[in-house]
Amino acid sequence: MNKIKLGFIGLGYIGKIHAIACFAMPLVFPDLPFEVHLGPVYKRDLLSLPHFFEKGVKSIGELLDAEGLTAVDICTPNYLHFEEAMKVIDRGYDIYLEKPIGLNGDEAFKIKEAAIKKNVINQTALMYRFMPAVAQARDMVKNGEIGQILNFKAMMLHSGYLDPNRPISWKMKKATCGGGAIVDMGIHLIDAVRFMLGEITSLRAQSRTFFKQRPSKQGSNIMEDVDVDDWTNVDVELESGAWGSIEASRISAEMEEETRFEIYGTKGSIMISTKHPDYAILYKKQENRMYSGIYDGEGAFTKYVRTIYPGEKFSMGYMVNMHMASLINFFKNICEGRIVYQETPTFEEAYKDQLILDKIVNV
Ligand SMILES: NC(=O)c1ccc[n+]([C@@H]2O[C@H](COP(=O)([O-])OP(=O)(O)OC[C@H]3O[C@@H](n4cnc5c(N)ncnc54)[C@H](O)[C@@H]3O)[C@@H](O)[C@H]2O)c1
Repeated sequence: MNKIKLGFIGLGYIGKIHAIACFAMPLVFPDLPFEVHLGPVYKRDLLSLPHFFEKGVKSIGELLDAEGLTAVDICTPNYLHFEEAMKVIDRGYDIYLEKPIGLNGDEAFKIKEAAIKKNVINQTALMYRFMPAVAQARDMVKNGEIGQILNFKAMMLHSGYLDPNRPISWKMKKATCGGGAIVDMGIHLIDAVRFMLGEITSLRAQSRTFFKQRPSKQGSNIMEDVDVDDWTNVDVELESGAWGSIEASRISAEMEEETRFEIYGTKGSIMISTKHPDYAILYKKQENRMYSGIYDGEGAFTKYVRTIYPGEKFSMGYMVNMHMASLINFFKNICEGRIVYQETPTFEEAYKDQLILDKIVNV
């Protein structure tokens, strides 16, 4: 049994999701070839650290010196990723780094080059690749089920920023986040589109900031400027000639926040929604019939994803489920000492996504 001691840098919203996934992993999948131990944690405020972490530490140096440390998971604001990731890689630890891996393409390039040079197992949390419906849709497209792809829509619609009293945060400043909705959420859509449909060759983007100022903290009358987008729509063209749109919104009042993909081809269409993460819906026009459930043409990666994505009876919601599958993939790669599935969202893939983001943000 491989023992993996995972250190955390940052333990806010997403760090907790990662920790929940690691904690529940052996209960959901008792036959995994590894044991994950929640190791030391470095974050800004250590007072609230739950008991099942090894200990809180006061510096990244102390974390990297911890006995038996195997890998590090970085879950801090984007502007900190570069410096932290370079320290982790320099010490030769395997690394799981939240998206976007850098503030821009230049940082992402240096991080991925360093990881390649040091030969560390690296992965980012572009975990829609591990949503079974997304992996399945990719197979359907590859197998020609809907013919030639003509167009598509990719949408991530959240509503949390509609509250005008929501205070400013690092996610609302270009200097700390690199951009707004498109960087924070749109990167998932960009990655999933590239994953399912191929490379993006040209684009045109429109962004809006609806709330241009926010309270400096909860309940404060002091207002601070927001210099990133609340909403962005990007029209893109793909290498295949297909065109489509990618929309990331923090101000869309949907009752259940949803991520959706609609893919239209000459012979039918494919729908994906986070409301049904296990299966895509395939419509075949000639038969005028819809299909869902296990698909005969599922490829090796999709079959693998079904073995690491929690089933219905153990579901903890699609966010934890996707992150659990993504983390299991990272740990399996650590055990094997190599990237087993080329579909893994390595830093190389994250870098390619970030080049697209750069084009959008800089326009
Ligand atoms: N893949 C996903 O689904 C997903 C979802 C949300 C966030 N994220 C990414 O995760 C990262 C963190 O986002 P979040 O929503 O958890 O943010 P957050 O603000 O909730 O948490 C940030 C964490 O970093 C710590 N931190 C902040 N400044 C620090 C400093 N100077 N030194 C040490 N620790 C510091 C905070 O204490 C906190 O623990 C970002 O890169 C974000 O893009 C990914």
